[in-house]
Amino acid sequence: MIKDLILKNRSYRRFYQEVAIELKTLRELIDLARLSASSANKQPLKYILSCDPQTNALIFPFLSWAGYLKDWPGPSEGERPSAYIIVLGDTEISQSFGCDHGIAAQSILLGATEKGLGGCMIGSIKRQELRKALDISSYYEILLVLALGKPREKVVIETVGPNGDIKYWRDSEGLHHVPKRALDELIVG
Ligand SMILES: Cc1cc2nc3c(=O)[nH]c(=O)nc-3n(C[C@H](O)[C@H](O)[C@H](O)COP(=O)(O)O)c2cc1C
Repeated sequence: MIKDLILKNRSYRRFYQEVAIELKTLRELIDLARLSASSANKQPLKYILSCDPQTNALIFPFLSWAGYLKDWPGPSEGERPSAYIIVLGDTEISQSFGCDHGIAAQSILLGATEKGLGGCMIGSIKRQELRKALDISSYYEILLVLALGKPREKVVIETVGPNGDIKYWRDSEGLHHVPKRALDELIVG
C-alpha cells in the first residue's frame, strides 16, 4: 500500500556499510526516475552512480548530515552509505529544473524502500569540491545527492507538539524522532 511505503520511506542516515548495493539495483532505481513526471517533459536530469567503496569515499566528505543534531557529525566509518546517486541537471537541455529532481528523488527512494533499502536526500553539498573530486563537467548542475544503504537506525514519526518545534531529534537509545505537522494544520481551505 502506498501509505505503508511512504511511512517506511524515512530519511535514514546510518547504514550497514558492509551490505553492498549492485550497480544493477541503482540502474533499476534510475528507471523509476526516468518514468516519473518532468516539467514540459524536457527530462533534463542525469545521474552519477556510485556503489564502490573508492568512489563512495570520494563523495562522503562533501555531504552535510542532520543539521539539527548538533553533536553528531554524520555516520562514522562502518555505518556510511554503500551507494550514492548524484542527481545532475543538464544545462544543455534546460536552464531550470523546477521540481523535477524532487520528484525523481522521491521515486528513487520509494523504490529503494520497496527493495528493503533506505536513504536520505542530501541538499547540503560542498558542490565545488564534489565537482572537482569527480571531475563533473561544468554544464551539469549538481542538484542533490541521494545516499543509499541498508538502514541501521529506527525512525519514528510523531505529531508536532504545542510548542510547534519541527526539529528532528535522537533519544538516548539512538531512536530518531521526526515531528510532522497535523493534517488539519496543512489544510487551509
Ligand atoms: C530537498 C531536501 C534536502 C535535504 N537535505 C538534507 C541534507 O543535506 N542533510 C540531511 O541530513 N538531510 C537532508 N534532508 C532530509 C530531511 O532532513 C528529512 O526529509 C526531514 O528531516 C524529515 O524526515 P523524513 O524524510 O524521515 O520525513 C533533505 C530533504 C530534502 C527533501
